[in-house]
Amino acid sequence: MEIDLTRVLCRVEELGATGCREFKLGGGDWPVRGFIVRSGTAIHAYLNRCAHMALPLNMLPDRFLTHDGSLILCTAHGALFEKSTGYCVAGPCLGQSLERVPVRVAAGCVMLADDVDIAALAARYD
Ligand code: FES
Repeated sequence: MEIDLTRVLCRVEELGATGCREFKLGGGDWPVRGFIVRSGTAIHAYLNRCAHMALPLNMLPDRFLTHDGSLILCTAHGALFEKSTGYCVAGPCLGQSLERVPVRVAAGCVMLADDVDIAALAARYD
């Protein structure tokens, strides 16, 4: 199987015990920033931008979850999001959702889904 290295976000094993890992796409001062989160056996990815004020969700590298690991936490104002949907279940953006980044797992790597246009994703990130 041939792997397009430009679409690889990380190796699955790099998700580690927390199941979370940040990624960047593109270069320059304003790359697209997102994160990957494991939920059970499924792997999801979202833009690292809170539905509330478009701030990054984390303050520490790769730290996106509540203490018990059950929900995604925005550290700015405490919004909580489901890992499998990105839906906000508590906080100032209740009922809104994180923006999903479609991914797939192949050859032990988390990759952008084939139909994701990286330039279009970057445009949505602006
Ligand atoms: S920016 Fe995330 S809850 Fe306010």
